[in-house]
Amino acid sequence: MVYMERETKVVKSGTPGLDELLTIGGFANKSSVLVSGEPGTGKSIVALQYIYNGARLYGEPGIYVTSEQTVEKVKENAKKLGMDLDDLEAKGFIKIMKIPVTHGYELAPDALVKEIKNSNIKRVAVDSITPLEYLSSDVRNFRARILGFIEVLTGMGITLMVTAEKKKTDFDNMEYTPEDFLFDGLVLMGRTRTAISFQRVLSIVKMRGTSHSEDLHPVEISDSGLVVKIIQE
Ligand SMILES: Nc1ncnc2c1ncn2[C@@H]1O[C@H](COP(=O)(O)OP(=O)(O)OP(=O)(O)O)[C@@H](O)[C@H]1O
Ligand SMILES: [Mg+2]
Repeated sequence: MVYMERETKVVKSGTPGLDELLTIGGFANKSSVLVSGEPGTGKSIVALQYIYNGARLYGEPGIYVTSEQTVEKVKENAKKLGMDLDDLEAKGFIKIMKIPVTHGYELAPDALVKEIKNSNIKRVAVDSITPLEYLSSDVRNFRARILGFIEVLTGMGITLMVTAEKKKTDFDNMEYTPEDFLFDGLVLMGRTRTAISFQRVLSIVKMRGTSHSEDLHPVEISDSGLVVKIIQE
């Protein structure tokens, strides 16, 4: 009898509420998604949940790459949000790696590629890609390096999530940056004004291969993580 490996067609985001905004119920297998937004809007939590819940709930091993924070700090912050990364790492389901941002910064260094091959990794999150912009000689170089990275990883069967900093998310007057065009999906995270406060919100700008919600969705962060709310009209 011939056993065929069943291809997972949809990769769940690991963030409650987010998959419901996508008609196919998650990200397309082997696609690339950019999560972009202002400081403190929840990008790193979404990236962490992608790897943590990907392994815990969906049995898909993953690697979380931090470019600027220490591994210890990532784990400490995750713990405060109910995610015990050490436990899953000890069991071999996930790996938290720091790829330091130096002049010779490579997005897909040998160590990462080797780890993906050896551990049957299905998901990779890179938090964040913005330092690369400052290390690239120009926009053309920046774009080429990102495209190369996407090609290498998705070519290895990875479904990729990357975060990026955005200086401003004015939803009425958006301005997009070069990296926004390079990924299959773009999820924007920002803050909108309410009468006397701010509300964190999330919006899907694009997701190649599926239709999706066009709404702004409130985002709530608590001790048990980040959830996306769907407001019924
Ligand atoms: N337990 C919690 N309850 C409520 N809010 C929390 C909790 N833990 C963290 N937060 C909020 O989450 C925010 C940080 O989220 P996150 O680190 O994902 O943001 P980010 O978009 O990655 O920011 P940056 O661009 O600075 O990296 C903080 O501003 C904090 O207010
Ligand atoms: Mg962050």
